[in-house]
Amino acid sequence: MARMIALVPAAGTGSRFGAPSPKQYLQLNGKPLMWHTLAALAATPGVDEVAVVISPQDEWFDDFDWDLPKLSVHRVGGSCRAESVANGLGALACEAEDWVLVHDAARCCVPVAAVERLIAALAGHEVGGLLALPVPDTVKRADADGQVAVTVPRKGLWLAQTPQMFRAGLLAKALLGMAAEDITDEASAIERLGLKPLLVEGDAQNFKVTYPRDLALARAILAAREER
Ligand code: C5P
Repeated sequence: MARMIALVPAAGTGSRFGAPSPKQYLQLNGKPLMWHTLAALAATPGVDEVAVVISPQDEWFDDFDWDLPKLSVHRVGGSCRAESVANGLGALACEAEDWVLVHDAARCCVPVAAVERLIAALAGHEVGGLLALPVPDTVKRADADGQVAVTVPRKGLWLAQTPQMFRAGLLAKALLGMAAEDITDEASAIERLGLKPLLVEGDAQNFKVTYPRDLALARAILAAREER
């Protein structure tokens, strides 16, 4: 039977965040930010393994007792996200038919229910798919001077989230031989093969912690869940 493997690329330095340690290791409600991410994936029924990909030069991971079921660690991170994912796939002993759910380390508030929704929606699907949200706001494209060049009709536009779920064999093929720096998510690599990933309704709580100002919201969401 096909296994369900959550793969978390966590080899980034978080340069936009500007903290001394990568953002995935910042303290959030008493634990590293990424602990919350890994815990949500481990708590998802149906996920067999949670594989985290860190940099070979990582100095922070071993400082914490992660104490999570299903967790495996792979020190094979690459120079960009796509390379970290491809290296992770290589390090995992998975079959081509196994499902891989690639999830950003910095999406630490991902609700278990959203991951379950993705898994359920893709059962038997030919290609795979991703969590995403319809764009709620009016969208503007800027010119070089920061002025509005054009208003882009938002109908049919979605914001891609993670997990992005594909068969291991298809994903490895899609990532192979691509200009990896151009690939900011797995779905776009699959699209370049001429395939159409399924969009599955995500969750506003599943945002990516990108800037220091995002931490307050993440803290509040996680604290509210603990109080329940
Ligand atoms: O930079 P960005 O936020 O888009 O990164 C998305 C995810 O990819 C993060 O979890 C980050 O740690 C990971 N990443 C990686 N290897 C890199 C760059 C980013 O695993 N070289």
